[in-house]
Amino acid sequence: MPNITSAEKNGHIGHFVKLQPGEKVLLCRCYKSATFPLCDLVHQKHEGTFGPLVVEALKEAEPQPTRQPSRPG
Ligand code: FES
Repeated sequence: MPNITSAEKNGHIGHFVKLQPGEKVLLCRCYKSATFPLCDLVHQKHEGTFGPLVVEALKEAEPQPTRQPSRPG
């Protein structure tokens, strides 16, 4: 279960979501969820194209692709 906290700063509320390795959450982007900031799928009942933001924590550190240095053309 993700750890979700909220904090207000300068009149704006921020949400902080901490995930365990391998956890996945759907974050609401339509602002109609009763469980905001989590998506409760209520967006499916409203017009518009917004769906959730899917965030998934890696199970373990995955190797990052290495960048090749650019060569002068
Ligand atoms: S309920 Fe808002 S995006 Fe799903």
